[in-house]
Amino acid sequence: MPTYQLTVNGKAHTVEASEDTPLLWVLRDHLNMVGTKFGCGIAQCGACTVHVDGNATRSCSLPVASAVGMSITTIEGLSEDGSHPVQQAWKEVDVPQCGYCQAGQMMTASAFLAKNPSPTEEEIKDAMNGNICRCAAYNRIKKAVGVAAE
Ligand code: FES
Repeated sequence: MPTYQLTVNGKAHTVEASEDTPLLWVLRDHLNMVGTKFGCGIAQCGACTVHVDGNATRSCSLPVASAVGMSITTIEGLSEDGSHPVQQAWKEVDVPQCGYCQAGQMMTASAFLAKNPSPTEEEIKDAMNGNICRCAAYNRIKKAVGVAAE
C-alpha cells in the first residue's frame, strides 16, 4: 500500500493507505483524531468538516492522496485549550444538544469567520446552511457564530 505524508494540525504524519481512502478515515483510524465525525459519507451533512489550506472541506469525500502537501486542521487543532473564539462562543451559547455534528459546525464556522470576520445574519445563515444538525440547534448555532464574530 502506498504511504502519504500529511500535515495535520501543524505536525507531519506518514500514513499507509489506499489512495482513495477518504481523509476522514485516515484521521480517525490511522491518526486517532476522532473529533471529526462520520455522518453521511457523501458530502451532504458536514459532520466530517475539516480545514484544508484554510477552506472548510468534507473529509469523507477527499481522497487521502489529494490531501498531500496541504495544511489540514481538525477540531483537535483549532486551539490547544478550547480558546478559539468559535469554541468560546459555542460554550457561551451552550449550543450542543447531542453534540455529534458540532465539530463539523465549528470547523465550518471558523473557516467562514476567518474569511468574513464581520458577517451579516444572512451571511451566517448561508455559510452554515450545509451543515445538518439532527437536533435542529440551528438558532443556537447561528447565534454562536454571531457571538464569535463580536
Ligand atoms: Fe462527510 Fe456527511 S460525513 S458530509
